[in-house]
Amino acid sequence: MSDPAAEETWNEKRILVCDDEPHIREPVAIYLRQNGFEVTTAVDGRDGLNKFQKDDFFLVITDINMPQMTGLDLLAEVRKVRPTTDVVMITGNVDLDYAIQAIKNGAYDYFRKPFDFEDVMLTVSRVVEKRRLQRAAAEAERLRGERSASERNAIEAVMALVQAVYSKDSYTRGHMERVGLYADVIAATMGLEAKRRKIIERAGILHDIGKIGTPDVILNKTGKLTQEEFLVIQLHPNVGAQIVRPISVLGEVAPLVRQHHEKWNGTGYPDRLAGEKITVEARILAIADVFDALHSDRAYRPGLPIEKTIQIIKEGRGSHFDPEVVDCFESCLNDGTLLGSIKDARGAGQVSAQDKVKAMAEEAQKMMMGATSQAREAAPAPAPAP
Ligand SMILES: [Fe+2]
Repeated sequence: MSDPAAEETWNEKRILVCDDEPHIREPVAIYLRQNGFEVTTAVDGRDGLNKFQKDDFFLVITDINMPQMTGLDLLAEVRKVRPTTDVVMITGNVDLDYAIQAIKNGAYDYFRKPFDFEDVMLTVSRVVEKRRLQRAAAEAERLRGERSASERNAIEAVMALVQAVYSKDSYTRGHMERVGLYADVIAATMGLEAKRRKIIERAGILHDIGKIGTPDVILNKTGKLTQEEFLVIQLHPNVGAQIVRPISVLGEVAPLVRQHHEKWNGTGYPDRLAGEKITVEARILAIADVFDALHSDRAYRPGLPIEKTIQIIKEGRGSHFDPEVVDCFESCLNDGTLLGSIKDARGAGQVSAQDKVKAMAEEAQKMMMGATSQAREAAPAPAPAP
C-alpha cells in the first residue's frame, strides 16, 4: 500500500481520463468537470503517460484495451512514477480478467462498460473519501510518533529526577520504595482492585519526587524547621504532581502525589482537603508515608519503636488519618503482612524504585506502540534502604 504521508501534495482536483474511444472519454471528462474536477484527457496509453509525467493527478481513469500502451502498462508506469496516485480501470465485458489483474497490480477499482455517470461519480467519490481517511490516518500516525517521543523524554526526565532525589537524600530513597510497598499492602487489605493498587504503588514510589525542588539545607536539617522552611517543604506535593502529570502513564498518579500530605480533618497541605474529598488512595498513602517516616532510622535519630509508631498513628485516627484506613493498617500490621512485605521484597531481589520507574517507562512505550494489554505482573517488590 502506498504511503500518502510521504507525499506533500493532496490536491484532489486533477484527474487524467485516458481512453482511445472519444465517445466514452469526452462525456466522462465533461461530467467530471461539471462536478468540480480539473480533467485532462489522453487518447491512448502513451499519450496518457506523457501527460501524467507532466502534471500532478490524484486519479487516473483509464481504459484497459488501448493501442500503443495498454491500461495495465499505464497502471504499472503510474505506480512507478507516483505511487500515491489512484488508478481506476474502465473495462469491457471481455476484459474482466484483466480488470482483476489490474486490482492485483494496485488499481483502486474498475467499472464496466456500459456505465452511467452516477457509477463514475460514485467511484470518484469513494477514491476521494479513501484518500481523506488515509490522510487522517497519516496525520494520526505522525502525532502518535510525536507524542511517543515526548512521552519517552518525559519518562527519562522522571527517571533522572528520581535518581537526583535519591542522591540528594539517602533516607528519601528507601522511604519512597517502602511507602509504595506499604501502601500497596494496605490497599490490598481494603480490597482495592489491582489497577488502583498499581496506581497507588507508583504514587508511593514517586510521592516525594517534588523534593527535587527542596533545598538540601532544609531537607537534611536536623533541628526544628522555621516557619519559612516549612512553607518551602510544603511546596513538594504540588511540584511532584506537576512533574508526573504530563506523562500519560502517570496521569492518574499525579493527584495522589499532590494529596499525600492532606489530612482527614482538613488541616493538611497543599489544598486543605478534608474527608472523602481526599482520594482513598491518597489517604492510604498518607498512613504509609507517616508510618515509614516515624519507624525508619534517620541520620540524626533512630526510628521510633513499632509500638510508639502505631500509637502515634492511632492518635491521628479521625484527625490526621481516615479511621477506616487506620483500621486496615492495624489489621495488616497485626497479621504480619505489612512488615512481612519488606522481608518478601528482600527475598525477591531488592528491586529498587528506580527499576520500577524503568518498568513504567517500558509500559508507556508499549502504550504508545498500541499495545493493548495492561495486565503486566507487578514488578518484584522493592527493598528498604540499608
Ligand atoms: Fe512528602
